Amino acid sequence: MSQRILVVDDEQSMQDFLRLLLESAGYDVSVASSMKEGESRFRKGGIDLVLSDIIMPDGTGLELLRAIKELDARTSVIMMTAYASTKTAIEAMKLGAYDYVSKPFDVDELQLLVQKALEKTELVEENVYLRRELEEKYQFSNIVGRSPKMQEIFSLIERVARTSSTVMLQGESGTGKELIARAIHFASPRAERRFLSINCGALPETLLESELFGHEKGSFTGAFREKKGLFRDSHQGTLFLDEIGEMSPPMQVKLLRALQEKKVRKVGGTAEQAVDVRIITATNQDLAELIERGDFREDLYYRINVIPIQLPALRQRREDIPLLVDYFVKKHCDEMGIPPRQIETSAMRALEEHRWPGNVRELENMIERILALSTGDTITARDVPTHVLEGTHVRPGEVDLPDDGLNLEGYLDDIRAGLMRQALDRTAGVQTQAADLLGMSFRSFRYYAKKMGVTSGGRPVEQQEEQDT
Ligand SMILES: Nc1ncnc2c1ncn2[C@@H]1O[C@H](COP(=O)(O)OP(=O)(O)OP(=O)(O)O)[C@@H](O)[C@H]1O
Ligand SMILES: [Mg+2]
Repeated sequence: MSQRILVVDDEQSMQDFLRLLLESAGYDVSVASSMKEGESRFRKGGIDLVLSDIIMPDGTGLELLRAIKELDARTSVIMMTAYASTKTAIEAMKLGAYDYVSKPFDVDELQLLVQKALEKTELVEENVYLRRELEEKYQFSNIVGRSPKMQEIFSLIERVARTSSTVMLQGESGTGKELIARAIHFASPRAERRFLSINCGALPETLLESELFGHEKGSFTGAFREKKGLFRDSHQGTLFLDEIGEMSPPMQVKLLRALQEKKVRKVGGTAEQAVDVRIITATNQDLAELIERGDFREDLYYRINVIPIQLPALRQRREDIPLLVDYFVKKHCDEMGIPPRQIETSAMRALEEHRWPGNVRELENMIERILALSTGDTITARDVPTHVLEGTHVRPGEVDLPDDGLNLEGYLDDIRAGLMRQALDRTAGVQTQAADLLGMSFRSFRYYAKKMGVTSGGRPVEQQEEQDT
């Protein structure tokens, strides 16, 4: 569909001229010969760009501009003035006009202007669309967590979002650092501006510098074009510096300077530019240790560690696992266009007991994989990869005592159940042999197997008993 331009001018010859010019350039054109007529045509909708005269019998183009901006601030308006009056032109720009041209105008110039104004409208629309999509994706409600630890984090990030304070997210890989960083941005007054991110460990030092601070054209080989840099691109928005612990010491100095002065200077440039950027950093390293080793600057650490948020590993909040599993099962079933699958208790148990070195990301990938490979309506223990079923999970010395304590008996039961399951798998389900492997009597093995629903490869114990006896 071609784009529609509304021409508002009381002069018939001007209407005809513009209609001819714009239609031959492939646009649809509507015309109006007064301010009122222009406004009512605009209200009907479908207008992508307005070209308006300034002086008309029933009012000024500025009034029309104001009315249009109130109806839809995204529409570009170009003002046409019969004589170059800078005062009116400035007024028009202040009111949000895209640009102005003075009559008689240069046909090429006008065409170029029209083209650019339409491109801008498209871009704005696309941005609004993308932003909405992102906002939805990064709402707090999409961050799953019922555990006291996550609840605490939710309340903290809600409070933090209202400020512009620097936030430092610490946590193992896959614990949700980037997710939380985005949620903070989209819940903040900066949400309308950009959230940009960079992985500080992924680029060599010189490239990182020009990514962050920009460069002048020709400042180094390959700098064909001037670049503004992420700090300036995220002006009034949020800049997420991921893997901050990977930043080289010379870059740390430059970053510290930028944060202190709130100014940046391009590579190869001389002028400094003021920037207003909220910084969120993330790391899965122990920065204190890096400081000790002399790999991370202490002064930078204090500058970025204003509000530290420690994201717990998944194994420190196992009560969230069933919630996350449900969430990911639903999400991926929706994506695959299939009805949400149920998950059997035994399978859920195995997932709850796994150690999850890759945290939430690992859990999500595993759910996706299970859904893709399994066929039934229900996910059973058989669908769970063996290393998860077997690698039980809590080895002595690897247990993290949660802040809020744990139920030791239940915990030991879980360990027992995990080892019994492994023993059963190893003995192809023969309980007497499994009991031997664990130094248990057959009696007590059978007792616990029943009590805790321990199965081998997903088969209920009852069936195995029949085989054994
Ligand atoms: N609490 C949560 N609720 C829902 N999804 C989550 C949660 N935490 C993490 N995820 C999902 O897990 C994946 C990994 O999260 P994210 O990329 O934010 O982790 P990260 O800490 O930045 O990891 P890395 O250190 O590896 O960069 C993402 O797909 C994210 O959406
Ligand atoms: Mg990350």
